[in-house]
Amino acid sequence: MILVTGGLGFIGSHTVVSLIEKGCEVLIVDDLSNSTIEVLNGIEAASGYRPKFEELNLQNGEGLSKIFHNHEISGIIHFAASKAVGESVQKPIAYYQNNLGSLLNLLAEVKKAASPIPFIFSSSCTVYGEAKTLPITERAPIQPAISPYGNTKQVGEEILVDAVNAIEGFKAISLRYFNPIGAHPSIAIGELPLGKPQNLVPFITQTAAGLYPKLTVFGNDYPTPDGTNVRDYIHVVDLAEAHVVALERISRNDVSQTYEVFNLGTGKGSSVLEVIESFERVSGKKLTYEIGGRRTGDVIAAYADTTKANEILGWKTKRSLDEAVASAWAWEKKIRGL
Ligand code: WQD
Repeated sequence: MILVTGGLGFIGSHTVVSLIEKGCEVLIVDDLSNSTIEVLNGIEAASGYRPKFEELNLQNGEGLSKIFHNHEISGIIHFAASKAVGESVQKPIAYYQNNLGSLLNLLAEVKKAASPIPFIFSSSCTVYGEAKTLPITERAPIQPAISPYGNTKQVGEEILVDAVNAIEGFKAISLRYFNPIGAHPSIAIGELPLGKPQNLVPFITQTAAGLYPKLTVFGNDYPTPDGTNVRDYIHVVDLAEAHVVALERISRNDVSQTYEVFNLGTGKGSSVLEVIESFERVSGKKLTYEIGGRRTGDVIAAYADTTKANEILGWKTKRSLDEAVASAWAWEKKIRGL
């Protein structure tokens, strides 16, 4: 059985659907702090199978031990973490306690297990900061984190390196996501809008749905072709499928590497204005937006060199920016009854 922590979250729920489609048995552990139990119904609707579910915050080590005692766990995909960059600056201790405490409790269970349990860690391109060279490869230097959230990803990866060296036969992969967007084609699951969105695409779709009068573009005076920031927007289903491939890789006995890192992106950069144009193209709606000031902490440009994932995982994205934006809009219209 594959344990998916945070499996009711945006990327977690889509990964659970991909695992089910591959015939895996899944146990979701989620504390519902940033999701709702409704997502379980969505996963069933999207995949035709209702995974097992346990409500638990992974900081509860005793509760986690019970789960490992009661289930035969053969793989772990670890999403569960607090992930709001801005909030992490306000509440750094809570972020370190939750994100690192949860990881350490999981690794304590891996250490106790009779045989090593392959482990996939949800990391982020945020570890690269403002990369000096584009596109960004896995060899790009890790920059000092600019938020406690980003630091929990960097420290989490370092903890995994030490853990694979300390636990006989233990293998792990860190997946560094670029910008996940979109929704499952069934639109039974998508990016849950809990509170005011921070990210660009949910803000675009919620503005178009009438929840906000306009979108503010955070700066158009950057050294980029149209002056707005460039990012690598990856369809969440492409991202989910990469997790299944990565887990399959370290579940095989013929792979000698004990720790690997992969960038997960499309390999293509898109500016904020290009994402807005994509939305207008796929929706046929004009988006109301204005140009505002820069947002603190934004890097100028970040997009992935996907050679390593393409060649070693045999994975590459199949879906375009327009398909991803169209699926995000279809999801928005569904949850707003439009
Ligand atoms: C994208 C671009 C904004 C909103 C974040 C996290 C990162 C990772 C992915 C977890 C930027 C611009 C946005 C708006 C705008 N998450 N924008 N108006 O910041 O690249 O990455 O999500 O791992 O850690 O930082 O994504 O969607 O917030 O912003 O102009 O209302 O859209 O300035 O250039 P970001 P984002």
